Amino acid sequence: MGQNTNHLHDESQIMDSMMQSIKKRDYNKYPPPEGFPELKDLILEDLGLNNEFDTLITAGSTESLYLCTNDILSPEDNTITCDPGYLIIDNFASRFGDHVKSVPIYNKECGYKLTPELVRENMDSNTKLISLVDPLNPLGSCYTKEELKEFADIAWDNDIYLLHDITYRDFAENHQLMAKYAPEHTVTVYSFSKIYGMAGMAGMRVGGVPEVIKSIKSIVINDLGTNVFSQRGAIAALKSKKEWLGHIRNTTRSNQEIIKKAVDQIEGAFIPVYPSNGNMLVIDIYNTNVTPLAISEYLLDRKVFTREGSYTSKDFGHRYLRVSFSIPPSDIEYFAKIFIEGMNTLHGSSK
Ligand SMILES: Cc1ncc(COP(=O)(O)O)c(C=O)c1O
Repeated sequence: MGQNTNHLHDESQIMDSMMQSIKKRDYNKYPPPEGFPELKDLILEDLGLNNEFDTLITAGSTESLYLCTNDILSPEDNTITCDPGYLIIDNFASRFGDHVKSVPIYNKECGYKLTPELVRENMDSNTKLISLVDPLNPLGSCYTKEELKEFADIAWDNDIYLLHDITYRDFAENHQLMAKYAPEHTVTVYSFSKIYGMAGMAGMRVGGVPEVIKSIKSIVINDLGTNVFSQRGAIAALKSKKEWLGHIRNTTRSNQEIIKKAVDQIEGAFIPVYPSNGNMLVIDIYNTNVTPLAISEYLLDRKVFTREGSYTSKDFGHRYLRVSFSIPPSDIEYFAKIFIEGMNTLHGSSK
């Protein structure tokens, strides 16, 4: 429950295709450097984007985030991110650009997300990049079509880029694509690590227009391509998606309900964004007298791995625990039981 990875796939076509690829010893060969054309087409089809968009396959979307920040930012450029958020983006942006403004969003007023208003308030003449993780790791907040249109206006008016990280897209109720509203200003980062259950295997980015991708391609390090067997798995994952997506989404939704019922039993604890649009949520325990470190250690001693808030926040990490729930329901039931038990025990011992 600490990694946001997806443990809900049974033995599947994804596994079969990777096994076959290994048996055929595909790993003896390099793939096409930009990725198999079939995979690139399937990704665009999955997103409902036409071939005015170009794509590049990388070994995980983390590599894509690194390449995008490296390519887009010059040393004098500023970036806007949010706190809580996916901190590796701040890390990369501060390496390649100048200042990273991490906007505090841990409050009800902004809906626990970086809103267009907050972006306008925090922009300056050197702002070049806005990072939108959607749904947001760790909170699970997600953007509406109207908000994305406003971000598109900001990008057009100020000639800046929007980095739309849609790693958790398929867990969301009604996810929208920034690329549809600001194609020339958007770079979309897509991952196979979460809904597809292929952790760290093949990420991808879609450039709004081929010029953006062409520029990013000019700085790739891994120019001999992403390994063949993970791309074979990714192709099978996309081709079979209709068969398994419903099952995974239904399970993650009912798993969330189990967690909510447990949290409701702890006085002072609450889930800021419920339901979450991702496969993880935040449990705020600030008013319970129990720290995220204490409860995460209690859980770990009982073989449950969660993340303390400090993993995804510099300013609010002392308030919450992040738990992901794309795991079997029986494991979630176990978590619910020991979470309640742990909170009650630790609360008693801290008095
Ligand atoms: C928002 C976000 N982007 C990217 C990643 C990394 O994805 P990948 O495994 O494809 O590198 C994660 C992983 O947790 C994430 O939360």
